[in-house]
Amino acid sequence: MSTVVLVGAQWGDEGKGKITDFLAWQAEMVVRYQGGNNAGHTVVANGQTYKLHLIPSGILYADKQCLIGNGVVIDPGVLLQELDTLTEQGVNTSNLRISPRAHVIFPYHQSIDIAEEESKGNLRIGTTCRGIGPAYTDKASRVGMRMIELVDQDELAENLRHTIEAKNKVLSRLYGVEEFFEYNTMLEQYTGYAERLKKYVADVSVLVNNAIDRGAKVLFEGAQGTLLDLDHGTYPYVTSSHPIAAAACLGAGLGPTRINTVVGVAKAYITRVGEGPFPTELHNKLGELIREQGFEFGTTTGRPRRCGWYDAVIARYAARVNGLTYLAITKLDVLSGLETLKICTGYRYKGEIINDFPASLKLLAQCEPVYHEFPGWQEDISAVTDYNDLPQAAKDYLKYLEELSGVPVAIVSVGAERDQTLVLKKIF
Ligand code: GDP
Ligand code: IMO
Ligand code: MG
Repeated sequence: MSTVVLVGAQWGDEGKGKITDFLAWQAEMVVRYQGGNNAGHTVVANGQTYKLHLIPSGILYADKQCLIGNGVVIDPGVLLQELDTLTEQGVNTSNLRISPRAHVIFPYHQSIDIAEEESKGNLRIGTTCRGIGPAYTDKASRVGMRMIELVDQDELAENLRHTIEAKNKVLSRLYGVEEFFEYNTMLEQYTGYAERLKKYVADVSVLVNNAIDRGAKVLFEGAQGTLLDLDHGTYPYVTSSHPIAAAACLGAGLGPTRINTVVGVAKAYITRVGEGPFPTELHNKLGELIREQGFEFGTTTGRPRRCGWYDAVIARYAARVNGLTYLAITKLDVLSGLETLKICTGYRYKGEIINDFPASLKLLAQCEPVYHEFPGWQEDISAVTDYNDLPQAAKDYLKYLEELSGVPVAIVSVGAERDQTLVLKKIF
């Protein structure tokens, strides 16, 4: 059995797309299991840049089966746009399959997302405004619509009739938004989407389990990151799904006994988009420099990402809640040229050292990071192809990261391109 779950070990944008693409050449199947088009996974291969939001980052290889599991929420318009863009870029998308149990995002989800954020004022989460939260809310409230209902004309027509009326009321009465969605227009639009998407609908749980049974290598691609997890993240500044490894089982329909490796992707520093606590955030020129050197602007929304030092409290937490087997450290090249580097080893709270990431945001706000300082390296490392050729300072930095989390580093990324990847340990 060879199954690998790849998760974000920080607040998202760790480079999951890049590492998924890198590992995908060895896999037969790549599966997304949660989130929606709040995700933006960038893959750079052979000089071309691909931006993926819903389609697994294995799609660039013509022969891989790429599956979207039941745990994902799908905006069909966005998915079709993504399929069209990939086709224009010469990518074969015929191997995509979508779970009939995946929930569908409608325009009212997006309007509610925006209205909710506006109504929160200073307490807003800074969502991607893609309707993700409201779509998962409908799923949990048992009023959502799934792909299987979308592609059944009668079910779609029937469902939409009730739902539109209810959502128009929510928008006008609760949020004072006079944006009335019209039944016939939306039915026509979504019928069109269904027509194009129905050929992709297939039982993902069956496909994944059959593949594992015949010994195929299966890679599960997480979206977002551990600290954006609905249960384990910095609640309420989180997303509405479960980016952690356990969700691969739930979101693709397989048992926990079928997973044998979990890879946590982490940047050599850390970033966050949107609101919420961030202990090692750099509110200074250095933070801006890292943003510029790392081109830290959101793939989905273009928002500048907040930047800070690597946080080993978070890494240990991610190791624990995901059961990490390995770490993949990305964007090490971005730190080149800095005189001094810092790693947060613990938090100081009222004079005591805290090593475990706290649940209370109130407490977290009073935590002061404790740093270990390192001399940086001045060399450009983006052309290094062997770990042994990295400057000693970079190797020391990586060794320390490894020690602090107790998780071996298996991959080091020194650039966005597929071949700017150093392999220390075999994953598949
Ligand atoms: P994801 O959401 O986790 O897939 O990450 P994103 O794609 O949103 O953000 C990561 C960004 O960093 C993308 O633009 C990648 O092309 C880029 N990237 C990934 N790995 C590296 C790396 O090692 N070095 C540099 N300089 N860029 C990288
Ligand atoms: P990838 O897969 C970084 C953040 C948003 C916001 C919070 C809730 O590219 O790593 P949502 O729209 O999900 O309700 O927003 O979560 N967020 C992400 N941040 N990377 C992502 O995805 C994200 N997806 C959501 O910025 O703070
Ligand atoms: Mg991203």
